Amino acid sequence: MIFVTERLILRRARLDDLNDIHTVLSNAAAMRYWATPEHETLEQSRDWLCSMLGADTSRSDEFVIEHQGRVIGKAGAWMLPDIAYILHPDHWRRGLMTEAMRVLIPYLFAQHNVPRLTAEVDPRNAATIALLQRFGFTETHRAERTLKWKDEWCDSIYFALPRSAVGA
Ligand SMILES: CC(C)(COP(=O)(O)OP(=O)(O)OC[C@H]1O[C@@H](n2cnc3c(N)ncnc32)[C@H](O)[C@@H]1OP(=O)(O)O)[C@@H](O)C(=O)NCCC(=O)NCCS
Repeated sequence: MIFVTERLILRRARLDDLNDIHTVLSNAAAMRYWATPEHETLEQSRDWLCSMLGADTSRSDEFVIEHQGRVIGKAGAWMLPDIAYILHPDHWRRGLMTEAMRVLIPYLFAQHNVPRLTAEVDPRNAATIALLQRFGFTETHRAERTLKWKDEWCDSIYFALPRSAVGA
């Protein structure tokens, strides 16, 4: 499965994506609101990539995002119906993840029999919240101290997009 948009190629990950993936996952700003801190070693990114490559495709459906010949991030359902996405900061605020999600949200509904897509977000993660809202996700609930990130407890906002909301 591959999608070609105006500026992006969305495709399945390959082992030779490791260096580009590591550039994203070792970036402190990109990983600030991720579930785990930035990767310190290439081995961490190799393990991450291998688990993505070996994931059960009935539960996980993710794509790497290629732009101008480099992998600059990833997006999709890491654990259905939960989606997640990340881009290297060099490419933020140019509408690239909007471009990717415009393709991926209809694809995920078409491909998987899920009643909704969901996302868990740190309340301080303004970019992710704006992106979800742009696609019609609405807040369902909040919880405190859901994740210990380095030494800090973080809260979560939960979002959902019902299938009926997109007419899928
Ligand atoms: C979230 C992320 C993927 C957005 O990617 P992006 O390509 O920069 O987003 P876009 O340019 O398509 O913008 C999408 C929306 O977010 C808004 N936005 C982007 N960055 C923002 C920021 N730093 N602060 C506030 N709003 C922001 C845009 O204005 C746009 O909103 P609009 O549709 O109302 O205009 C990117 O910021 C990122 O990788 N963050 C780190 C990873 C992360 O936290 N992932 C989420 C964990 S689930």
